[in-house]
Amino acid sequence: MSKKSRLVILASGSGSNAEAILNYFKGHSEIEVALVMSNNPQAYVLERAKKFDIPFKVFDRAEFNRDETMMKWLNEEKITHIVLAGFLWLIPDFLIRAYPHKIINIHPALLPKFGGKGMYGIKVHEAVKLAGEKETGITIHVVNEKYDDGEILFQNTCAVEEADSPTEIARKVVLLEHAAYPKVIEKWILDNRSALNN
Ligand code: GRF
Repeated sequence: MSKKSRLVILASGSGSNAEAILNYFKGHSEIEVALVMSNNPQAYVLERAKKFDIPFKVFDRAEFNRDETMMKWLNEEKITHIVLAGFLWLIPDFLIRAYPHKIINIHPALLPKFGGKGMYGIKVHEAVKLAGEKETGITIHVVNEKYDDGEILFQNTCAVEEADSPTEIARKVVLLEHAAYPKVIEKWILDNRSALNN
């Protein structure tokens, strides 16, 4: 049997997606969440990490952008894949080089629409509403050096009714996120592994 893949989850806020991922991979035979990291010491995601008894680390911007510091932490935990779940900072080039095609993100809209710097949280759903979109959804993509730009692995949609507020749109979208993200992560890791073995 091959060694387990070891994920780090990077999150800046509540971490409801992180929790869905932690739940899904609890007891998984091939994949485990080894570490949770946040730039925000107040982030609720840290409480979730404690609840699941997963090690966690808080970093500041200088630490995050310092190659030796980040790589030391990730190597200590033998991290194989990086999962972004509501993480707001741009990923530095050294991490993209160290984890080629091994960093994944979820965005709460149908990219390439409603993405890019500053497009996060309720702002995304307000923009969707303002544009009069009839549908919105989620995008899960590989991370490259630009915001919301890498190869799209998965999308799913939901209807936007005329009466829907941005908050209501957010409610629909987050349900899609929790249902899809853990499974897409699992498939992404296991498919890439078998491709490498062929
Ligand atoms: C999600 O909507 C995700 O798409 C975006 O940030 C949000 C994080 O929410 N990247 P949560 O912290 O997982 O609840």
